[in-house]
Amino acid sequence: MKIIMLGAPGAGKGTQAKRIAEKYSIPHISTGDIFRANIKNGTELGKKAKTYMDKGELVPDSLVVDLVIDRFKEPDCANGYVLDGFPRTIPQAEALDEALKAIGEKVDYAINVEVPDENIINRMSGRRACVGCGATYHIKYNPTKVEGICDACGEKLILRDDDKPETVKNRLDVYHKQTQPLIDYYAKQGIMKEVDGTVDMDEVFNSIVKILG
Ligand code: AP5
Ligand code: ZN
Repeated sequence: MKIIMLGAPGAGKGTQAKRIAEKYSIPHISTGDIFRANIKNGTELGKKAKTYMDKGELVPDSLVVDLVIDRFKEPDCANGYVLDGFPRTIPQAEALDEALKAIGEKVDYAINVEVPDENIINRMSGRRACVGCGATYHIKYNPTKVEGICDACGEKLILRDDDKPETVKNRLDVYHKQTQPLIDYYAKQGIMKEVDGTVDMDEVFNSIVKILG
């Protein structure tokens, strides 16, 4: 099963993608996580990506597309994957369709996690990310057992550089201009599914499972 997660920054794509990956035994491929790992490891790609990410801009398509398409060649992608943060522009979506068409495959579902802009700033300012394993929490909606410490690996939690309110505003603008058009793109293909992302995380997941079966 090949699934695309769509939605505004902070809508809960990553939270739900992790659960989908676990339930359906497919890998969770997050371009944001890949870039953050590259930044942490000080790679050339990480250095380039950081200049865009810190401003809330998208990383150029040329740095993203091959990275994701190459990832599909790994053996764990044999039964599909859940894409989180990709595609994010029409050219990325077209490149994905072309790459899949070339091997006689296609995307099965695009799931849009709908959360209005008013709720987003609140979500982002409370989000905390682990410096060790990248796990994501929320100080109110998904707290850790010990404040500031990751439940999974014991490392400390930080506020992401791009989660500061001024950057979040720009990310929302970029989302509306460059990524929201993908909702129409996948609706035309007949694979677009909408879920309400404002309810609690378990309810959002239940709605997704109803769609995926
Ligand atoms: P990326 O990491 O993809 O960021 P994003 O799309 O902005 O999404 P987020 O990770 O911020 O949010 P999310 O929807 O996953 O929400 P989460 O589950 O964490 O990208 C970062 C940057 O990388 C981009 O700005 C860009 O520069 C670059 N980039 C990445 N991919 C790219 C691409 N393809 N092309 C170009 N550039 C690219 O949830 C948010 C918070 O809310 C958490 O604290 C969570 O605990 C909480 N929460 C989740 N669900 C609920 C709920 N139902 N109720 C209450 N709280 C909830
Ligand atoms: Zn951790």
